Amino acid sequence: MARRPLIAGNWKMYLTTAKAVELAEAVAASCAGLSDREVMIAPSFTALTAVAEAVAGSPVRVAGQNVAWEKEGAYTGEISPVMLQDAGAGMVILGHSERRHIFAEDNAMVNRRLLCALQFELTPILCVGETLAEREQGNTFKVVEKQLSQGVQGVAGEQMKQVVIAYEPVWAIGTGKTATKEQAQEVHGSIRNVLAGLYEKTLADEIRILYGGSVKPDNVDSLMAQPDIDGALVGGAALKFESFDRIIHFS
Ligand code: PGA
Repeated sequence: MARRPLIAGNWKMYLTTAKAVELAEAVAASCAGLSDREVMIAPSFTALTAVAEAVAGSPVRVAGQNVAWEKEGAYTGEISPVMLQDAGAGMVILGHSERRHIFAEDNAMVNRRLLCALQFELTPILCVGETLAEREQGNTFKVVEKQLSQGVQGVAGEQMKQVVIAYEPVWAIGTGKTATKEQAQEVHGSIRNVLAGLYEKTLADEIRILYGGSVKPDNVDSLMAQPDIDGALVGGAALKFESFDRIIHFS
């Protein structure tokens, strides 16, 4: 089964509402009529509602950058899946390396968030990826496999079809150092094998695996040409219309 490519922009802690809406409108206009690929943007929580309204009626989907593991409660600083839905988000980024490494989120926490996202029908993008030290020690596959298998623990096969995986080597995020297409393909292939082991090969073949880490207009085409790379999770280059637009329209 053909996997529909997904180009996802992670705006991180950038862009106040007016700027976010301006960029979202430009992206939506450029995506009109696009049907062979999916496009998603993840603004800050405060800009979600306005951005969702700005892209309404276009193929562009909106995501939160994280979600709590409960519907509501005394969780100061967290955001509920119901609140994301209410704001117009249908997807959510989980386990991003900045959450793992700056805010100490571990696999168990990411797993709870993912289960809650699925329960409330948000499409999760589960991020995995090794640090430079882990790569240099030869532990890339071990680290990625652990993040993946613990991250999806308790997810049934039928639900797993909705989950998107993003391989983001930590050393490539925001550094301008992209993994080579061979390095990326090697890990994407191993992720698909792990998924085939946890579920079934036919299911693993349906799951989209995005690459993230310094994706730019000049490397997106060669990354997207790899057999197991099904899209991109884009940070820095998603903040400027010209570069994100070129990435959306990869060939
Ligand atoms: P980058 O970020 O494209 O700026 O490297 C990617 C990400 O953090 O998802």
